[in-house]
Amino acid sequence: MTRITITGRRQLTGQVRAAGAKNAALPILASTLLGGGDCQITNLPQVRDVATMNTLLSLLGASVKQDGNKVVINTDTVQSLEAPYDLVKTMRASVLVLGPLLARFGEAIVSLPGGCAIGPRPVNLHLDGFKKLGATIELAHGYIRAHTTGLKGQRIDLETPTVTGTENLIMAACLAKGTTIINNAAMEPEIEDLANFLNTRGANIMGAATGRIMIEGVSQLHGAEYTVMPDRIETGTYLIAGMVTGGDVEVHHCIPGHLDSLISKLRECGAEVHETTDSIRIKAPKRIQALDVQTFPYPGFPTDLQAQMMAMMSVADGTSVITENVFESRYLHVPELQRMGASITVDGSRAVVKGVPQLTGAQVMASDLRASAGLVLAALAAEGETQITRVYHLERGYERIEDKLQGLGAIVHREPASA
Ligand code: UD1
Repeated sequence: MTRITITGRRQLTGQVRAAGAKNAALPILASTLLGGGDCQITNLPQVRDVATMNTLLSLLGASVKQDGNKVVINTDTVQSLEAPYDLVKTMRASVLVLGPLLARFGEAIVSLPGGCAIGPRPVNLHLDGFKKLGATIELAHGYIRAHTTGLKGQRIDLETPTVTGTENLIMAACLAKGTTIINNAAMEPEIEDLANFLNTRGANIMGAATGRIMIEGVSQLHGAEYTVMPDRIETGTYLIAGMVTGGDVEVHHCIPGHLDSLISKLRECGAEVHETTDSIRIKAPKRIQALDVQTFPYPGFPTDLQAQMMAMMSVADGTSVITENVFESRYLHVPELQRMGASITVDGSRAVVKGVPQLTGAQVMASDLRASAGLVLAALAAEGETQITRVYHLERGYERIEDKLQGLGAIVHREPASA
């Protein structure tokens, strides 16, 4: 097992390029299952979750040829329709193969994702939607077995705007007979990226990125070339890294409009922010001002930046209140931040963060992907050395994070750890 060691209190300055978005790449890769022909996908982030999705596609029988940030996938050779437990347990987003397999082959068997560190995260809304489209769903021995003799377009009203649920249903509806309308759909930009890719392949999807998505089913999809959108969460993480270190950081090759909720919060706490069409630069204030943040589905403040924001509020001037509205129990980073000297109390979905002048380096443990990013930011701000174990969580979603941080002037090392 490896660990990352960070020596804090180095002002980060300079430029960093945003990678392709993990959460757009995953559904795009899964959606290659919807039709034959070569799909060439570029700007693919080289992160563990993407590697896991590629492994899953290979396991199903697809040809997957990856070369750095580019992959060519052909699913004409798919033979298996089963996503096994061993893979699904390492990445919940494996459930994204359910919709495309069901729509194209009439059958799919996917392990139930089970519990995860940030709360129950059920997939009931995915399954209810598939049933509406005409699938039968059976849950047995820890697996979801979906079957259909042909999906039919329907109106689906989602109780909660689930991101991967919306993606799964869009993919299934692409090959369904007739029109599907998804109401109360999630509006995350990654959903629009998936829809753009599918439309390039011959699908007919309208209104992605709005709460009402309409899909006219088509009989088949063909191959295509596509470039994945930039990662807004990675972008936000580097901007906050600039803030916590009192630095001056520019992220380029990003889409500033996707980060409006973060940018307005950073301005509110004193940052100077400059945006161009594809870059964001922040200059940190002398002392970060406390502020309140509530997470919401897009375009609200993203839950995937909550831990990073909490690390920043830990060293702000005054008391901040963070309210996590998207996931239960997404505060596993709190005890670790407390070990670094942060003053945080949690009451249900609310966390009260009393800013302290200084965090101190400590040994901490990552519990999930974004929590580990929060710990990295706290370590960058802290006096002395912090050792973060279980960094495999970080590798799931951040491409070359040590290189990128070193490029901005951070002192970061990766080394083998005994625990
Ligand atoms: C996606 C993102 C994840 C992000 C999350 C919220 C990917 C691969 N992952 O996860 O990084 O943190 O969106 O922005 O894109 N829910 C149900 N029933 C369901 C599905 C969801 O009750 O069938 C609830 C969840 O428990 C949660 C809320 O809906 O409270 C939102 O979850 P959802 O949008 O589905 O998250 P994911 O798609 O898993």
